[in-house]
Amino acid sequence: MEKNIIDIIKKAKELSLNLKQEINHIKDLKEIDLIKIKYTGKKGLVTLLMKSLAELNNDDRAKAGRAINIIKRDIEKMIISHKSLIENKILNESLEKEKIDITLPGRPTLRGGIHPISKTMDEIISILSLLGFNVEEGPHIEDEYFNFTALNIPEDHPARQEHDTFYMQGSNKKKLLRTHTSPIQIRVMKEKKPPIKIIAPGNTYRCDDDATHSPMFHQIEGLVVDKNISMAHLKWTIKELLASFFNVKDLVMRFRPSYFPFTEPSAEVDIGCEVEDGKLVLGKGKKWLEVLGCGMVNPKVFNNCEIDTNIYSGFAFGLGVERFAMLKYGITDLRMFYENDHRWLKHYSFRPTGFPNTLKGS
Ligand code: PHE
Repeated sequence: MEKNIIDIIKKAKELSLNLKQEINHIKDLKEIDLIKIKYTGKKGLVTLLMKSLAELNNDDRAKAGRAINIIKRDIEKMIISHKSLIENKILNESLEKEKIDITLPGRPTLRGGIHPISKTMDEIISILSLLGFNVEEGPHIEDEYFNFTALNIPEDHPARQEHDTFYMQGSNKKKLLRTHTSPIQIRVMKEKKPPIKIIAPGNTYRCDDDATHSPMFHQIEGLVVDKNISMAHLKWTIKELLASFFNVKDLVMRFRPSYFPFTEPSAEVDIGCEVEDGKLVLGKGKKWLEVLGCGMVNPKVFNNCEIDTNIYSGFAFGLGVERFAMLKYGITDLRMFYENDHRWLKHYSFRPTGFPNTLKGS
């Protein structure tokens, strides 16, 4: 091999070593671009070396060309990987700078509030927890079986139409958004053995939208199953709940006969009220306000859940959380609950530091 070719390859190796040393000192993207030009640019060191191959004979040119090409690729790789190293460093630094310290305490002027629905839910749950009820949950997307059939509402039953159900597309009417929290009764009774004493709060859905109806609303279900449970237990429980929640000691209430397929007998509960100086006063007076539905668990429902009706009886109730909130806090338009109007929220929301009082429920 001629001296020329050895020299050229040696020079190429030197270039690569030099770059290795040089590049380690480089800390910004501008410099890396300059280095790129210095080595592989049009008039760069590697490019010049390539040009010098012209002096060699055909054989040597091919050999040296291959060797230099390998070194050239190494040099290019080195530059690219160092560039991405710098880019990552810059990115990490800026992420670090932009990090928000979420451990800082909130500023009082920006404080959010507890929504009246959440507040009402918390209050009702805390009153009933004190009476020994445990909280259960169920899925929002229900089977037709749990929402209707097992609750003694067969397919041709008019109650199915009354519920204005949202069915899931393509589910052949088998899946739906639960229209009430009562399917949780079934789920619990199928899973647990009596004694059962539960409440089930949650979202419910009906295809209805006006000043007094929202397509999504909230209910709280109650269920007690044990030996010797009677209507008297139901009445006492409801009275305790209403008196605590509305904060009226001698609350006037009445049980009006009604019909639900899953309770027998069934009742709707009204509380007394009157208007004093243009204000609605709850718990006394000659007018009646309907607040919830309830009844003794229908033996057909017990049979569907394989609970022996010779041994056990039970009661259930279901209440609308929006209605409770409206009555207690003087909210007149149901739709405002979901508008997220800041002025409304500021007026009707509650301080996050206030805890529900388990005795008074307020
Ligand atoms: N699920 C009934 C409704 O949505 C309420 C209810 C629950 C009635 C439990 C009786 C017993 O209207």
